[in-house]
Amino acid sequence: MLKNKVIRYLTVILTLFVIAGCGSTEEEPADTGLLLGFSQIGSESAWRIGNTRDIENSADNYGISLMLENANQSQENQIAAIRRFIAYKVDVIAFSPIVEDGWDNVLMEAKEAGIPVILVDRDIETTRDDLTTCLIGADFYNEGVMAAEYLIRKADELGLEHVNIVEITGTENSTPMRQRQAGFADTIAEDERMCILERIDGDFLKSRGAECMRYLLETYGDDIDVVFSHNDEMTLGALPEIEKTDLVPGQDIIIISIDGGQEAIDALKAGRINCVVECTPNLGNELMETALSLKNGEEVEAVIHPVERIFSDEQDVSAIGPRGY
Ligand code: AHR
Repeated sequence: MLKNKVIRYLTVILTLFVIAGCGSTEEEPADTGLLLGFSQIGSESAWRIGNTRDIENSADNYGISLMLENANQSQENQIAAIRRFIAYKVDVIAFSPIVEDGWDNVLMEAKEAGIPVILVDRDIETTRDDLTTCLIGADFYNEGVMAAEYLIRKADELGLEHVNIVEITGTENSTPMRQRQAGFADTIAEDERMCILERIDGDFLKSRGAECMRYLLETYGDDIDVVFSHNDEMTLGALPEIEKTDLVPGQDIIIISIDGGQEAIDALKAGRINCVVECTPNLGNELMETALSLKNGEEVEAVIHPVERIFSDEQDVSAIGPRGY
């Protein structure tokens, strides 16, 4: 009796395996034999989660084995992860540096071990330029320029004579924070209507975006004409704080964000955000291509920037398709 039951059970399992096998039409990619160690910053935003997912999917599609470590927003954890990749003798190391300083020692260790290093998303400050091979990431300075150019057009359209701006910035000493701020500041510097009331560190986090906005509203109230926020997460934290007052985001306050994730695009479509500058997290394919080239001893480009767009109330926003992050 028991024997029959076991046989029946095993037959069902076997049948399920066969069906699953027949149903799948996708071919497994050939294994490239490449082992890539990747240290991710953390999971602070929808952008970051989308970036991690994209890198995992790309590694699978290219037949590359990925050792992925999440540093939970800690530079120490990233340095420890890079040391583990070296000890493990991976073929290529990639990492998204949370901040720009403090990488020279560990990168010297990678160099001595003969392991090429790729920077993903963010850049570093270093005394030598032979510690990394290339940077695959957005042109953050240009994102700041695009945000400011939109604001100048909007001020023209509304006939504004004076524009008070509050800026909620990303993680202190990170590349996107420094460059978005610089691109925006350099561009508005040519327009004397523009005035920055305050810059405040929101660390790219939704909770900090809310805290910063509460403080800014308490301090400046309805003097605020514009919120320029360095990422969607902080913007999405700030919006409900504005909505708790009698000010309407998108109407009484111009809201400018960066990233272009689904939730922010939905808020743009609802009129709660005026402009979102795209920063794509989809860097995985470029990363895999570059890692393979390095493994084959080929030259790689020093900087690879993806093409990025701007979404705003100047266009038919209903036509913007699903964002995927
Ligand atoms: O480095 C890219 C930035 O980091 C994105 O704008 C932000 O959302 C992320 O956390």
